[in-house]
Amino acid sequence: MPYYRTAGSVPPKRHTQFRRRDGGLYAEELQGEEGFSSDSSLLYHERIPTAITAADAVETEPDALWPNHPLKPRHFRMHELKTGGDLVSGRQAVLANDDVRLSYVAADAASPLYRNAIGDEIVYIESGRGVLESVYGGLEVEPGDYLVVPASTTHRWVPEPDSDDGALLRALVIEAGGHVGPPSRYLSQRGQFLEHAPYCERDLRAPEQPLMAEDPGEAQVLVRHRHGLTRYTYAHHPFDVVGWAGCLYPYAFNIRDFEPITGRIHQPPPVHQTFAGPNFAVCSFVPRKFDYHPLSIPAPYNHANVDSDELLFYVGGDFMSRKGAGIGLGSMSLHPAGFTHGPQPGSVEASIGKEDTDEWAVMVDAFRPLHLGPGARAGEEDTYAWSWGSPT
Ligand SMILES: [Fe+2]
Repeated sequence: MPYYRTAGSVPPKRHTQFRRRDGGLYAEELQGEEGFSSDSSLLYHERIPTAITAADAVETEPDALWPNHPLKPRHFRMHELKTGGDLVSGRQAVLANDDVRLSYVAADAASPLYRNAIGDEIVYIESGRGVLESVYGGLEVEPGDYLVVPASTTHRWVPEPDSDDGALLRALVIEAGGHVGPPSRYLSQRGQFLEHAPYCERDLRAPEQPLMAEDPGEAQVLVRHRHGLTRYTYAHHPFDVVGWAGCLYPYAFNIRDFEPITGRIHQPPPVHQTFAGPNFAVCSFVPRKFDYHPLSIPAPYNHANVDSDELLFYVGGDFMSRKGAGIGLGSMSLHPAGFTHGPQPGSVEASIGKEDTDEWAVMVDAFRPLHLGPGARAGEEDTYAWSWGSPT
């Protein structure tokens, strides 16, 4: 994230003596990407952040994944998956490939301290409220938020006990195999959002104050890495930062702040793009005026998007182009490369003359085939593939 921020206390010059009241030095930590050649932040800890006293392998089964074979468009109902657990351990893998892992979770408990050493995570909050606590501070989360958590950021998720959805924090978790961010075409050479971007710096929220653990003593941190999960025991709790400064930090962007780009005739999905990741894109479909050419057809045209598997997660309103297909809130549809997809029968005609839409959806386009995980199998409604061939 290119927007420089500071929080708490930092010394006027980096890599210089910065002392606690007792005269000891704060421990400076740089968290940086791409080998000191990209965005970074400097954090100032009360105690050294490197003191581990144990490292234990956490035995987990690798995701069971099945190829989408025979190749079919598919419909998964996330609200039929089991609920409970925490936002890290309770993730149910829905779709995955070597670039991105998509999982769903309905959390009712605080997560352990955690960091993903493989890549950044984007967590889309479908419903519920809570706090994302990290070494950078606390960040309140609400429905519609995308939380971008940079790789190797130590954090934990704390659902709000009396939030709207029976205390559940429901989320789509997008684990990238690298770094994510706003599409580069929306950024200046120096990283400022350009005028044609559908959102900008003022729409982003980040921790404003550091967060101190109540108990500064020993703490365990779960680390996701290429070989599985390792649990470190630290001599000191990692939430002991008095200040930080830099361009790398977790941040929130709410889908309600995405300003739709519209036109006289149907605009292609890239206008909805919100984030870019390695070999995938994330798009937001939000309420908007429909196309205003006098002969426009607001419903999308059939399309063979030959290089993408398209996942759509339906999170609000009425998705007109899927009418009659059984899609509802909490549904995910998968339209794989190799299958030409489009509106359900009757939707094109029904869209003519409509002036606006109230649909909300999150789309992930993966540029390599997605495999089906246990969450897909458990939530699959298996007549979807034939929904274009049936009368509505
Ligand atoms: Fe599509």
